Amino acid sequence: MSVRHFLTLTDLSPQELERLIHRAIELKRRHKAGLIDEPLKNRVLAMIFEKSSTRTRVSFEAGMIQLGGGSIFLSPRDSQLGRGEPLEDTARVLSEMVDAVMVRTYSHQDLETLAHYSTIPVINALTDDFHPCQLLADVQTFVECRGSMQGKTVTWIGDGNNMCNSYIQAARQFDFHLRICCPEGYEPKQQLMDDYADRITLIRDPAEAVAGVQLVVTDVWASMGQEEEQARRKRDFAPYQVSPKLMDHATKDALFMHCLPAHRGEEVSEDMLDDHRSVVWQEAGNRLHAQKALLEFLIVGSPAQTSL
Ligand code: CP
Ligand code: NVA
Repeated sequence: MSVRHFLTLTDLSPQELERLIHRAIELKRRHKAGLIDEPLKNRVLAMIFEKSSTRTRVSFEAGMIQLGGGSIFLSPRDSQLGRGEPLEDTARVLSEMVDAVMVRTYSHQDLETLAHYSTIPVINALTDDFHPCQLLADVQTFVECRGSMQGKTVTWIGDGNNMCNSYIQAARQFDFHLRICCPEGYEPKQQLMDDYADRITLIRDPAEAVAGVQLVVTDVWASMGQEEEQARRKRDFAPYQVSPKLMDHATKDALFMHCLPAHRGEEVSEDMLDDHRSVVWQEAGNRLHAQKALLEFLIVGSPAQTSL
């Protein structure tokens, strides 16, 4: 069987994604009960980081240890990638030595190139275009708190960025509807919006966009690599801040998520992360469990038969 990659959410079928979320919940329950699952004993994950990270690095590294394996952190600064070794060659070499590779980089095309030349699974740990690992954690969190996302309405408020793009794909994969609320000029790419036209609605007014929905999600206004645009973006996005007052337009049991890191006073009000509707810490913690299920799925195939 050919190797499976996870470059976007569309690399797994809706059925596989559903099983993966349930496996993540199971692995979390077992881990919290002190049980040990080591399906990846002696397996190694290479982790290439061209951008900063706290959650992604810690969750992948801790996840590999908990599953019985280990990981190797590579940054361009101290690997040959930074001195111009081609991605094609790097992919072939890593394929000889480790069991999977996780990549956080700028260009999604570079990630695709690496995957093309890899004979081991390649995982997207964020590109300029997509952040699918975060979506696994977000969906797991929603399922834990409210059950299936099927038929629900979610509002993405803020920049039409990598997170928004992954939410667009998630809408089809997990069968929900997505309202996108962003200022003019900050929409996701037209091609993606056209491809998912049946799953998304663009609404400019934040209160209208949030009205009656079950989940509200936002992200930073300037992503990694957009630092020089910070001042302009701060002005353009000012009316799009998520606050408890805005959340009052959503359903009574609506949840609030943010992939973090957050900027209090910008995309979220000072008090939003601590609001009773915010599940951001649980969401961050679920990066660990969701990615453990993903690593197991990609490296050894279907999960071991386990139950509490
Ligand atoms: N949410 C997320 O990917 O966080 P890090 O940038 O800290 O990895
Ligand atoms: N959109 C953000 C997500 C960070 C996890 C970025 O790309 O910087």
